[in-house]
Amino acid sequence: MSGSRPVQPGWVYLVGAGPGDAELLTLRADAIIRAADVVVYDNLVGDEVMARMPAGCTRIYVGKKAANHSMRQADICALLVRLAREGHRVLRLKGGDPYVFGRGGEEAETLVAAGVPFEVVPGVTAASGISAYAGIPLTHRDHAQSVVFATGHKKEGPVDLDWSALARPKQTVVIYMGVSRIAEIAAQLVAHGLPETTPAALVRRGTLPDQFVVVATLADLADKAEAASIKPPALMIIGTVVTMAPTLGWFQGG
Ligand SMILES: C[S@@+](CC[C@H](N)C(=O)[O-])C[C@H]1O[C@@H](n2cnc3c(N)ncnc32)[C@H](O)[C@@H]1O
Repeated sequence: MSGSRPVQPGWVYLVGAGPGDAELLTLRADAIIRAADVVVYDNLVGDEVMARMPAGCTRIYVGKKAANHSMRQADICALLVRLAREGHRVLRLKGGDPYVFGRGGEEAETLVAAGVPFEVVPGVTAASGISAYAGIPLTHRDHAQSVVFATGHKKEGPVDLDWSALARPKQTVVIYMGVSRIAEIAAQLVAHGLPETTPAALVRRGTLPDQFVVVATLADLADKAEAASIKPPALMIIGTVVTMAPTLGWFQGG
């Protein structure tokens, strides 16, 4: 029966913590947080979420910031396997949803290969949490019939995306991890057919008390973001749905 599933020793729980606001945790995530004896967590897990961890729970930070990996992915996977084999109730807590640009799939594959039992708990991914809090519906019958999530992160060289597929009309494009590549992304979308006047937003620390929204167009998003000194984590939302932000924005922050 849902809600009464035990949280078991020797298991790994791959849990999405949502984009920041602790009230966006699922009931299942909260139940696991209360029962875990060790948590392995990333830098995007909000402070309010971490404050819910029981006092006796061991915390292991393995956060990654672009270009500053504190623990290699292979080592994180090995750590999860070791902790589970030691008999812990292991909470692997990730920002947003574990299966959206979170390497949750790689960690689950490792657990399968090692024979470690696991559960995956979805979280509110940044795109849905932030669009709701910024007043930007991802789809709307007057604006967009499809929505695409893409990553703007590339270790080296230019961002390698299917630009023609992203530059389609009546579509919303959400770019994760794109802050350092805004000008390049905007230029590619324009080169592949989107008008320069296409509305575009950048939302920093969405759903958190200091959420900050920049509304612009593809032509000037990079300049406006630079003028506002926007640093990660921030999400780009591109498409005419962005024009709804002034009307539908409701979140005042803290
Ligand atoms: C490694 S990805 C992880 C995505 C996560 N698994 C999810 O489902 O939201 C990190 C990127 O998500 C976006 N992101 C996550 N939380 C955010 C927030 N509160 N505000 C703005 N962007 C956020 C940013 O683009 C950030 O660079």
